[in-house]
Amino acid sequence: MSTTAPKLEVHNASKNFGNLRAVSDVSMRVESGELRAIIGPNGAGKTTFFNLITGFFPPSSGDILLDGRNINGVPAAGRVKMGMGRTFQITEIFPELTVRENTRIAVETGLGFSLRAWLTGADKQRVAAASDEVMGLANLTSKADRLVGELSHGDQRATEIAMALALKPSLLLLDEPTAGMGDEETYQITGLIRRLHRDSKYTIVLIEHDMRVVFHLADHISVLAEGRLLAEGTPEEIGANEHVQNAYLGKAE
Ligand SMILES: Nc1ncnc2c1ncn2[C@@H]1O[C@H](COP(=O)(O)OP(=O)(O)OP(=O)(O)O)[C@@H](O)[C@H]1O
Ligand SMILES: [Mg+2]
Repeated sequence: MSTTAPKLEVHNASKNFGNLRAVSDVSMRVESGELRAIIGPNGAGKTTFFNLITGFFPPSSGDILLDGRNINGVPAAGRVKMGMGRTFQITEIFPELTVRENTRIAVETGLGFSLRAWLTGADKQRVAAASDEVMGLANLTSKADRLVGELSHGDQRATEIAMALALKPSLLLLDEPTAGMGDEETYQITGLIRRLHRDSKYTIVLIEHDMRVVFHLADHISVLAEGRLLAEGTPEEIGANEHVQNAYLGKAE
């Protein structure tokens, strides 16, 4: 396997739902260490595109490559094992459990343990250490023993990101991590994503509506509209792109 292969390549991916072409001939190349943002109006096909990458459902046509390897035939669980971590547009956590318990469940899943009662002492230590590590990364150490359901929306989202990190992903896919958040929580989650990218060197693909977040974080931006790739470039290029402004303002071109 070539060491210069991009982390993620998508070649001409399409997805039809009946007569609706939700994703239409979209290609993308994300280099190792890059933070790519995907933006676009509601219903543009952003989440569907993530579902193709993660193997939630197969593309109608096109190819997905991870580290240069075609993974079209690899089911979602296999892609997680190959290093794909994901968070969802709607937070998926166990609110009645503590932060520590949530991250431990994620770590155990990542390590292939399913029955906690059967873990040996050494395994339990491994789980605890890995859980402590991801809570630290997500700035949750001081809240480890709080019930997740009682935390702020921002800390709940950070818990979900910590759970994705527990699987030791080499590619992290985040679907609208600041959705529904106020300024303070948006700032908190933006800071967390920036640290994961700049300090911990994660490769991240981020779907995001908040342009402040996108322009603050992204190395490159891909713009989807009506299932198609409308534009791609640096934040400066995208900010100056007339087609993108038209798509966002809903004007006819
Ligand atoms: N499982 C599905 N079955 C049928 N249609 C779907 C399915 N998932 C998405 N769609 C449709 O595909 C189109 C794209 O949806 P998608 O959720 O990918 O958009 P999005 O860009 O993520 O939008 P938003 O910004 O609102 O999250 C929409 O018209 C949606 O109704
Ligand atoms: Mg979506």
